Amino acid sequence: MNNFQFYSPTEFVFGKDTENECGKYVKKYGGTKVLIHYGSGSAVRSGLVDRVKASLDNEGVDYVLHGGVLPNPRDTKVYEGIELCRKENVDFILAVGGGSSIDSSKSIAVGTLYDGDFWDFYSGKSNIEKALPVGTVLTIAAAGSEGSNSAVITKEDGMIKRGMGSDLIRPKFSILNPELTQTLPPYQTASGATDIMAHVFERYFTNTTEVEITDRLCEAVLLTMIKEVPRVIADPDNYQARANIMWAGMVAHNNIVGVGRDQDWNSHGIEHELSGLYDCAHGAGLAVIMPAWMDFVYKHNPMRFAQMAVRIWGCEMNFENVDATAVEGIHRFRSFLKSIGMPINFEELGAKEEDIPVLVEKFGLQNRTGGFVALSSDDVAEIYRIAAHAEC
Ligand code: NZQ
Ligand code: ZN
Repeated sequence: MNNFQFYSPTEFVFGKDTENECGKYVKKYGGTKVLIHYGSGSAVRSGLVDRVKASLDNEGVDYVLHGGVLPNPRDTKVYEGIELCRKENVDFILAVGGGSSIDSSKSIAVGTLYDGDFWDFYSGKSNIEKALPVGTVLTIAAAGSEGSNSAVITKEDGMIKRGMGSDLIRPKFSILNPELTQTLPPYQTASGATDIMAHVFERYFTNTTEVEITDRLCEAVLLTMIKEVPRVIADPDNYQARANIMWAGMVAHNNIVGVGRDQDWNSHGIEHELSGLYDCAHGAGLAVIMPAWMDFVYKHNPMRFAQMAVRIWGCEMNFENVDATAVEGIHRFRSFLKSIGMPINFEELGAKEEDIPVLVEKFGLQNRTGGFVALSSDDVAEIYRIAAHAEC
């Protein structure tokens, strides 16, 4: 196991009706003037924004509203938010929604206190030194941004999707009420679930040895997802299954399952070019990319993929042919994704094979090196090609 430092200061408030307490938590973490930042409509339609406002009113906390965050959130909305925060002397950002609203909030939080263009943090030109406090009321189990140190924004000019990371942007508190996720369309539920599983796999495939505790924690999260996702797809109002998935989404990405081990993250980088170019759901893009990445890299360590096959997908170990076990595990992963309604190839996602050179070029600009297998441009092109034609 590698040396590590683990800092996860977020206070999680989990369960039914907990959104009605958000005013109390904003006050606890020093908010006196709040920016309520939310998406394109679901949180208004469900009455959630009204309940959040009522909770702030009860605590005598002032607020301004800033809605309209798009999935794959844009820099333009962040600039608007920064301007509003400065004008209104906002001292706390409350994200109401999913990863998109939360990431946009985190970006406004750093941009408001920065004497320059907030994109500098995404382009690597500057490091985050301060941020307004952020709280979240989560409405979709997916990105894990409610507990993570990262944010992802798309620059509209060129649709460039990039991430930034700092412990300074971890939320002060996150309110997780599984009931709020019951209004999700099945496709969004499944996309979120795929993202959660991908966050674990990015950590599971490692070259670090002797990491039994995190291996087993990863497996626990994945087995939970395999049990609970089909239950919510069949019965969207199943509170207990929703609750397990919601907590799995947090655990999958605040890094408790990833400490002390090298992590890969190339699948995320390769996917971000798809959601950047086609504006598809991030999880759906991962359903196409992650099994293709597995097809391409499993020979690097067939035994680790066989471990996945046996422990997670219930395959029988073929000691004569470890590769065959590994391949069967990848096949079962892809079949699972298909069974929950995810796309598994370019056509199903709405991507085009002729765009592969553009995708590869944009990926190259990320300067990303995988922690499990380093990939050349040709390798990335091959992964896109496998993804383009994948079948179950
Ligand atoms: O905008 P509204 O109307 O709210 O609709 C959203 C959106 O269309 C809808 N939705 C959310 N909660 C709902 C709901 N609809 C009905 N009922 C509800 N309760 O779902 C759609 C997706 O929402 P979004 O916030 O985009 O989803 P998600 O949480 O998957 O976030 C995706 C973004 O997070 C980034 C992704 O790249 C993508 O931009 N990621 C952020 C990470 C992080 N900060 O740590 C890590 C991830 O790997 C990921 O890259
Ligand atoms: Zn993700």
